[in-house]
Amino acid sequence: MNAGAPRPRIWVSRPLFDDILARLREHFDVDVESEDRDWTRPQMAEKLRDKTGAILGVADPVDASVIAQTPLLRAVANRGVGYNNLDVAALAKAGIVATNTPGVLDETTADFAWALMLATARRVTEAERFLRAGQWKGMSFHIMLGGDVHGKTLGVLGMGRIGQAIARRAAGFRMPVIYHNRSRAAAGIEEDCKARYVDRDTLLREADFLVIAVPMTAETKHAIGAAELTLMKRDAYLINIARGGVVDDTALVAALKEKRIAGAGLDVFEHEPVVPDEMLALDNVVLTPHIGSASLATRRAMASLAVDNLIAALGYGPDAGRPPNVIGAR
Ligand code: 8YV
Repeated sequence: MNAGAPRPRIWVSRPLFDDILARLREHFDVDVESEDRDWTRPQMAEKLRDKTGAILGVADPVDASVIAQTPLLRAVANRGVGYNNLDVAALAKAGIVATNTPGVLDETTADFAWALMLATARRVTEAERFLRAGQWKGMSFHIMLGGDVHGKTLGVLGMGRIGQAIARRAAGFRMPVIYHNRSRAAAGIEEDCKARYVDRDTLLREADFLVIAVPMTAETKHAIGAAELTLMKRDAYLINIARGGVVDDTALVAALKEKRIAGAGLDVFEHEPVVPDEMLALDNVVLTPHIGSASLATRRAMASLAVDNLIAALGYGPDAGRPPNVIGAR
């Protein structure tokens, strides 16, 4: 850009792979945080006050209160596909480009949904806790009896890219797939995923594994609450790899305690990183710390795409002015 002009300043809100950060440093003065921590809105405003762009984690909030204090800000790049941390309307109003990282994490996150399905039904983490605690005293025929996965009905709530990747994996387990989505998927997608569209209540009633793969929006908040959990089968499992707020954690704890469903596999929670004590005390739930996309290759791909997006959004690099993943442009 302008040869003599000072380089734009960029904030990277959390640690990022050094070699990928180096690509940002070719164009910008980069201020990168060396430790992972959660940011409040006032702290975000303070950090972004003199910045032109930022690479953000999916829990780092930007809304009108932040934007009001960041006059130089031109672009924010989420390194993640979800963007419920961003007030998209407020950003658009201020002319700030917002981007995310769709596509690169679908298969890895789908793998993890299956890891949770298998671990939950077959009580993998509970069994390991038992063994590590020295409680395994010898072979027992009745030990850790769980549910089967193969042949059961997979229900997917949210048939976006990740939902589809989860559904496609069901063929090897000989599982029929049903799904519900805001709008019915194209025939080609249904064929590829061998998935049958059903209404929401049918999904809740018939799924043996109900996997949540919807984004967090005003419409999906508490999409699974007490009423929905009551519709589920008593031997069904709930799996959430999407966003915590989609499930009402209080209602879920009650259902798990009363064994109104068989169990749950949860990678996301309403108030991360806080997990309710009552949930921690339950054995019929597998709990992981929001690691659905956490393979090394995928986290690198996400970081790299976020960097590509920011460089392009700020008018540099081969895609100058045409960032690949502008939120709201699709
Ligand atoms: C996070 C995610 O980005 O992409 C998303 O929306 O929730 C995750 O992939 C990841 O956990 C890093 O914060």
